[in-house]
Amino acid sequence: MAKLIDGKKISQEIKDEVKEKVAKLKEEGIRISLAVIQVGNNPASTVYVGNKKKACAYVGIQSLAYELPGETTEEELLQLIRELNEKEEVNGILVQLPLPEQIDEDKVIRTIDPKKDVDGFHPQSVGALSIGQKGFVSCTPAGIIQLLKRSDILMDGKECVIVGRSNIVGKPMALLLLRENATVTVCHSHTTDLKAVTRRADILIVAIGKAKMVDADYIKEGAVVIDVGMNRDENGKLCGDVDFESVQEKASAITPVPGGVGPMTIAMLMNNCVESARMKEK
Ligand code: GUN
Repeated sequence: MAKLIDGKKISQEIKDEVKEKVAKLKEEGIRISLAVIQVGNNPASTVYVGNKKKACAYVGIQSLAYELPGETTEEELLQLIRELNEKEEVNGILVQLPLPEQIDEDKVIRTIDPKKDVDGFHPQSVGALSIGQKGFVSCTPAGIIQLLKRSDILMDGKECVIVGRSNIVGKPMALLLLRENATVTVCHSHTTDLKAVTRRADILIVAIGKAKMVDADYIKEGAVVIDVGMNRDENGKLCGDVDFESVQEKASAITPVPGGVGPMTIAMLMNNCVESARMKEK
């Protein structure tokens, strides 16, 4: 039976560490603020944005909420971002994705000042990560590295397989695991024999957005399984991309959904906000 990797507990530890760092900076007269922009009212985005604001309040970061109507034009959003780029007191700018179809996401991401890109989505941040230079790292993959480290799971020399090649998770995950000296394979929808590859994994990371797709058949005995998925099953219950019930019999450790990777993303966002304020002071 697999050991449960408790993302709720580990993310709480990180938030408490961030809270201390924020308090110390406050003693030095440094306050931290994060601008959170939501365009339209996608219900999932509203939940995520609400959780981000709650986390800000917990650690002592001021959140500035910008709730824009769904009909907002691209130029209006870009203008707001340019204004926030200029604002001395704003340390981080987060634009919740997805955006309505009239707005080009790439353009929006490129407009955010890389020094305030706490999501780590700007091409400059991604480029820095790929050549091992300093920059903000996408929060979900950064959170997964923390989950593994704080659960004493060694990455060095291990065979790590990532299923999914998104810009937000799969690709930065591969780069971060390389930095930890893992051997990394990235699979995706065109991979010919997916099971043959995932069965090689000592550490398997699944981020495909398909409810319970990865069952015990995809897993090597004793593997560590990280589930990035957030879906609803046939009964409307939250579930991951991994079939938890069958996989937990075969894996040595596994993240649950909810309570695994999800809470880590927000904890790492809070940490990036602190880093942004620190870098500005340097
Ligand atoms: N939408 C889904 N995940 C994320 C995230 O990590 N950041 C932003 N800005 N939008 C998202």
